[in-house]
Amino acid sequence: MLARRNQHIMASEIRLIFNKIVGRSDIVDLTVGLPDYDTPDYIKEAAKDALDQGYTRYTHNAGYIETREAMSKKLKHDNGITADPESEVMMTAGGMGALLLANLVLIDPGDEVIYPDPGFVSHPAHIELAGGIGVPVKLKKANNFGMSADDVEALITDKTKALVLNSPNNPTGGVTPEKELRKIADLAEQHDFYILADEAYEKYVYDGKKPSFIGSFPGMMERTISIFSLSKSYAMTGWRIGAVAGPSEVVQAMVKLQEHVLAMPTSIAQKAAEAAVTGSQDCIRDMLATFSRRRDLITKGLNAIEGVEMKPPGGAFYAFPDMSAFNMSSQELVMNILDNTNVATVHGSAFGKYGEGFLRLCYAVSTERIEEALSRLDSYLHKLLR
Ligand SMILES: Cc1ncc(COP(=O)(O)O)c(C=O)c1O
Repeated sequence: MLARRNQHIMASEIRLIFNKIVGRSDIVDLTVGLPDYDTPDYIKEAAKDALDQGYTRYTHNAGYIETREAMSKKLKHDNGITADPESEVMMTAGGMGALLLANLVLIDPGDEVIYPDPGFVSHPAHIELAGGIGVPVKLKKANNFGMSADDVEALITDKTKALVLNSPNNPTGGVTPEKELRKIADLAEQHDFYILADEAYEKYVYDGKKPSFIGSFPGMMERTISIFSLSKSYAMTGWRIGAVAGPSEVVQAMVKLQEHVLAMPTSIAQKAAEAAVTGSQDCIRDMLATFSRRRDLITKGLNAIEGVEMKPPGGAFYAFPDMSAFNMSSQELVMNILDNTNVATVHGSAFGKYGEGFLRLCYAVSTERIEEALSRLDSYLHKLLR
């Protein structure tokens, strides 16, 4: 009954775990990929003001011009990206809304799109929905899960239309070094393909390192669709608001399509986003410092458990330890851990075939929860090695 385009679209396997833990208070839940912070007050106040001031109607399909202007300033200041608010910036329903539109306007049936594996499950789903052929590029533990330009080059064919980049990466926390990004940019120019730069975790890069944005490199604006999200940066996952910067012909095609899909993202969320990027950025510094401490805690704790091994992740808020010593599939391991310790994690294979052998643990939860999870894992996991 259903159209063929649905046939190969997979629901996220994270659901397998959600379904087992829903409504249970005895679970230490490290599955969900969202900050445990609430949206900062100055953003909520701006949303309330927007309601009171009557920002309750349809907006431009690209979003309010003043919101795009604020976003354009943020892009210049935070990301080094110069984008005209009139034609090269649009507001979207989260990063997700932007990713789908970008795939739909760029990909023809049969086009190949290279995407990170392990990676965010919606990337291959969007490629598929657009009729494209997803080509996974392995993010290797040996490279701290950064993308390697050589690995990308090996996958390029005359059908390659785009490459999805996501640094810092979900689920590994891997950050692609600037050197590799520059080489990847050269490849995109040589072989004439687009970059979809999913910058959802732009604010979460640790050890005082400055993130690099491929859309800011010379000559790259014309072939990079940079996708930003307020979800993780400002603890606004439920507001569904994001922004795109890219070449005007691509952005304008996305605006045209958005008109027929959503019309525009919610007016109040747009006003909240405008306030988020123009107000004090103390909340970002605060979350980064907190998550950095939690990262150190979980890295040390996991490495202290026999059979578990990982390097400190460079960004995002996920630990992705190597669990291959346990000699079972990552899904089996997740279920064993859940049934025996009530700690909920996600199997690496839920994020692509190259995620097998790893688990994802989200550490955007309280220190107490991390400590409790580590203690339960420590007392259980050694039994599996015997
Ligand atoms: C890598 C990545 N991209 C995009 C998104 C989508 O975020 P949103 O649609 O909330 O902006 C997520 C959410 O988890 C993500 O992890």
